[in-house]
Amino acid sequence: MTNKKNYDVKDLSLAEAGRNRIEWAGRSMPVIKLIGERFKQQKPLKGIRLACCLHITTETANLALTLKAGGADAIFCASNPLSTQDDVAAALVEFGIPTNAIKGEDSKTYYKHISTALDHKPQITCDDGADLVSMMHKERKELIKNIIGGTEETTTGVIRLRSMSKANALKYPIIAVNDAETKYLFDNRYGTGQSTLDGITRATNILWASKIVVLCGYGWCGHGFGMRAKAMGARVLVTEVKPVRALEAAMDGFEVMPIAEGAKIGDVFVTITGDKNVIDKEHFLLMKDGAIMANSGHFNVEINIPALEGISKKKETIRPFVEQYSLKNGKKLFLLGEGRLINLAAAEGHPASVMDMSFANQALCMEYLVKNKGKLEKKVYSVPEEIDKNVARLKLDAMGIKIDTLTPEQQDYLNSWQEGT
Ligand SMILES: NC(=O)c1ccc[n+]([C@@H]2O[C@H](COP(=O)([O-])OP(=O)(O)OC[C@H]3O[C@@H](n4cnc5c(N)ncnc54)[C@H](O)[C@@H]3O)[C@@H](O)[C@H]2O)c1
Repeated sequence: MTNKKNYDVKDLSLAEAGRNRIEWAGRSMPVIKLIGERFKQQKPLKGIRLACCLHITTETANLALTLKAGGADAIFCASNPLSTQDDVAAALVEFGIPTNAIKGEDSKTYYKHISTALDHKPQITCDDGADLVSMMHKERKELIKNIIGGTEETTTGVIRLRSMSKANALKYPIIAVNDAETKYLFDNRYGTGQSTLDGITRATNILWASKIVVLCGYGWCGHGFGMRAKAMGARVLVTEVKPVRALEAAMDGFEVMPIAEGAKIGDVFVTITGDKNVIDKEHFLLMKDGAIMANSGHFNVEINIPALEGISKKKETIRPFVEQYSLKNGKKLFLLGEGRLINLAAAEGHPASVMDMSFANQALCMEYLVKNKGKLEKKVYSVPEEIDKNVARLKLDAMGIKIDTLTPEQQDYLNSWQEGT
């Protein structure tokens, strides 16, 4: 059992339920399992202090166990106040991995938990949204001297870190795990696609067939959600600010229009942009009575909730994760999961099968950081191509899929410029 001072979870008696669910998820995580077996033999993270600020889910627990098998001395905290699975947090503590996360924690507790993770004096930080790095750079600068490097899981975190790097404010190397092909092509697309639909369905039990869905943001997550909502029979409209992405959405068969147009006709609104105030006061006022809004982007700023409150006379929770806003104009609008990532607030986040690849990248990047200690600059690095390819190879093996290999003749051909028609 872990020292009482360095963990804070809702209820340790939930641990057994958590252990069972962690094991269930682990069955769909063959790559992380293989890495864990190697880590157990080789101990590449022996004695390394890690602070991990991730969504505390069954998949994260499988990563945690792999890092522990590799010899790491890790502490975990939540990367979002609503995404914690309390049974998993309890199980992690029982596994001897101090965890600070309680579903529904207030903002003060959320930051206290991040601070406790930093008290661990990490040598590697692992973030999902860059809150650890941000607190370390703003309030706990004295800890930077211990750092070997960090990893970042999500698009929003990578954007924040690149801004820090550009302003010469980033004080240690970070690997952008999000930008690995074996991460964003699968986790952001298929993971967010399915689990966002799952979160909204669990919160509302709506029928998707025939619904007019307004999808704000056609990035990798948007691609996935649009594809899945369409497959359920919804009529999907896309809003974008990037011309190429808007064009892609149009050619993928979606109607594209500005949010001010979509606002008038949508039944369900989903933001996945990483941007703020994508749905704003003027759009709420245009919406139909009964419109439902959810966000799956990293922070709860995509739907302007203070503005929504400003035009409402009453707010009531009418079922778990569903808040009814009674507008002064007489209409009722519904906001799901307090505007926080709906797939993690009302459902279980991404299925284990995709997190297998994301977290394999995390574990291998941490090993890479230790191997390259002192050699990396204070900037944001891409995941080394060899790691990305290796994760794909291991996943294909686990799925029993075989592929072709280039012949020497083909290799020469692809590396040469002399041959033409
Ligand atoms: N819910 C989850 O579990 C989960 C998983 C992965 C990523 N994310 C988060 O989802 C967000 C999107 O990630 P992504 O990988 O798809 O990013 P991305 O950069 O590929 O796509 C975001 C898209 O939103 C568009 N956009 C920005 N502002 C807009 C606006 N005002 N109106 C319409 N479109 C706008 C951008 O042009 C871009 O095409 C990020 O915050 C990321 O951290 C969430």
